[in-house]
This record gives sequence, C-alpha cells and structure tokens, in this order.
Amino acid sequence: MRFIGNKEKLLDKIYQTVLATGIKDGIFCDFFSGTSNVGRFFKEKGFKVISSDLLYFSYVLQKAYIENNGEPKFEKLIKKIGHSANNLFPSGFESIRTHLNNLEGINGFIYKNYTEQGTANEKYKRKYFTPENGKKIDAIRTKIEDWRNQKLINKNEYFVLLAALIESVPFYANISGVYAAFLKQYDPRALKELEIKPISFYSGNKKHAVYNQDSMELINDLDVDILYIDPPYNSRQYAPNYHLLETIAQYDNPEIKGVTGMRKYDNQKSDFCNKIKAITALNKIAKNAKYKYLILSYNSEGIMPEKDITKTLNKYGELNLENIDYLRFKSNNNGDSKHKKMIQEQLYVLRKV
Ligand SMILES: C[S@@+](CC[C@H](N)C(=O)[O-])C[C@H]1O[C@@H](n2cnc3c(N)ncnc32)[C@H](O)[C@@H]1O
Repeated sequence: MRFIGNKEKLLDKIYQTVLATGIKDGIFCDFFSGTSNVGRFFKEKGFKVISSDLLYFSYVLQKAYIENNGEPKFEKLIKKIGHSANNLFPSGFESIRTHLNNLEGINGFIYKNYTEQGTANEKYKRKYFTPENGKKIDAIRTKIEDWRNQKLINKNEYFVLLAALIESVPFYANISGVYAAFLKQYDPRALKELEIKPISFYSGNKKHAVYNQDSMELINDLDVDILYIDPPYNSRQYAPNYHLLETIAQYDNPEIKGVTGMRKYDNQKSDFCNKIKAITALNKIAKNAKYKYLILSYNSEGIMPEKDITKTLNKYGELNLENIDYLRFKSNNNGDSKHKKMIQEQLYVLRKV
C-alpha cells in the first residue's frame, strides 16, 4: 500500500541491523505499525510480534496479517453461499472475493458523501470515487458487516475481508497519494471498475498481539527483545491524510465536514508531529519500556534534530547511528517542477544498559 513512511524498501536493512544485535528470534515490537509491513516481515522471520497504531485501518491490517496465522477457511459462509463456479480449485477466500466483486452497488455513506453524483445537491461536491465504485464500496462493506452480525464469519475472517477491501480501495481512489484532497478530473485509475484484490496470508504458530492504541499508553507494560519504533517525522498528522480509509474501515457514519469530508481525529493525534512533545515522548519510551534494543527509524529532515535524539537516547545505554542515503524527488514550493535531493533514512540503535 502507498503510505507515507512505508518501510518496505528498508526491511532488509532493518533486518541486518537486528541480526547484528545477535537476536535472531524472540519478541519484536512494532509500535507505529502503519501498513504493518515491518511486523509482517519479522513474523515471517520467526519473531513473536506485538504491534499497534492509532489508526483503525492499520489495526485491521495488523489483525489480518499479524495476529491471524494463515488463510481462514470461511466454512460457515461457504456452506451458505457455496463456492464460486469460476474457480477450478476454489479456496473459501477466492469464492468470497468473487461473490463480493459481483455484488450490486448500494447508495451508502461513501456514495452519498464522496462521489460526484452522491454530493450533487450538497454544499461540497466531492469526487473521490466514481459513483459506481462508491456504491460498490458501500455494498461490499455492508455485506462484510452483515455476515459478521449473522455470525457467518468469525473475527479472523471478518478482518481478512476488511483488509482485502482496505488494500483494494487505493487502486481506485481519485487522489494523488493521500486523501487530504481529491483530483478535479478523474485519474484513469479511478475509472476502472473496483474489485477486491487477493491478499497475502502469513502463516505461523506463534501468538501475536495487535492493538489500536496510542503506543505511549502501552509502553509501561512492555518487555521485549527488539522495540522498533517508526514515528511520524514531521508535523503532518496521519489521520487526516488517510481519513477515507479510516471511515471505510470503521464504517461508523461519522460527522464529516469541509471540502474533503474529513472526520474528526482529536483522539488520533500523535505527539511525534509536534516538535516539542516529540522529544518528551521519545524520552518516555526509551526510559519506561523494557527492551534489549530500541531501534528508532527516523529521517534526516525530521522535526526532532539529530543532536536532541542522540542526547535523549544516550542516557539509557549504548547508541549507534546508521545513515542510509537515498535520493528523493522533491517538488519546489509551487509544486510544479521537481528536483532531486539526497536525504538520509536513519536507524538509531540503542542497547539498553
Ligand atoms: C512512519 S508511519 C509508520 C510506517 C510503517 N512502519 C510502515 O512501514 O508502514 C507512522 C505511523 O505511526 C502511527 N502513530 C503515530 N503516533 C502514534 C502513537 N502515539 N501511537 C501509535 N501509533 C502512532 C501513525 O498513525 C502512522 O501509521
């Protein structure tokens, strides 16, 4: 999934850093989980994973990929709706995917508030999805909830289906990357008919634990081998940038406002988006959590200066800093031309003593 700060490209580097500590398995904590990529990777490497994020849609992904071990069978639901005729070797998930993809659209919350047709008589006209895709999202989301209410799917199966929807929606959203604005004209991507795409399943036999909580509330009860933290780097909060994925995941008919139809996010604000609060929060984590190694992913352009981070972490053990250069294409202030800029991803590695 496209997500600001997604660490997909850094996974091997993070792994090498972890291996260099001498720890090959044990408990890995990913407390700013986002796409859940990092947790998934370490789950596959044999770690027991604990993860959390303020965003509910991130929790949905964590439930499906981290806590859930393998592909659920959907036995009860398949008994009711049958396997899809198109699939030669049908799995429960594939048959249900076909079933969801063939649903008739309905005029639900997404259609009414985030499509051109649905908002035609409203003060703010929004164009996040085509009317057809908006209706389809509503139909799929409603069906998943109905199945859960009728106890035709268990909790694991519910989160797997929700995760498949959350992973699929960005392929059809009429945006340039985040949901804080929509495009005036339809991007060709948005015009394609929405379908739920297959997702990966991560098997295993460990009991993992995932949370939809502020990490700052969880750190006191933590005792782990690797505490990996990947907080936001700048003052842009995540919740408003991904508000539509959050609303599709929660599907709670929220009060929304303004040009973009933003939901409230007062309880999803991160201290790491505030220059002053960020260092205090980092200090709290480094001081109060129990861990053998704390690994902080950060960025040379982040709002916490390197010298403040170093000073804070140095108090609790031996600190090592690894810089990883990469080229970023950056728009100028008018956003109309691009230039290359070398910046550094950073891994601060603290061995607690
Ligand atoms: C840089 S992103 C993490 C990206 C992630 N490592 C990945 O690869 O997708 C930061 C994440 O931290 C979450 N976040 C920020 N403050 C938080 C807090 N106090 N507790 C839990 N999650 C928080 C945001 O919602 C966002 O998903």
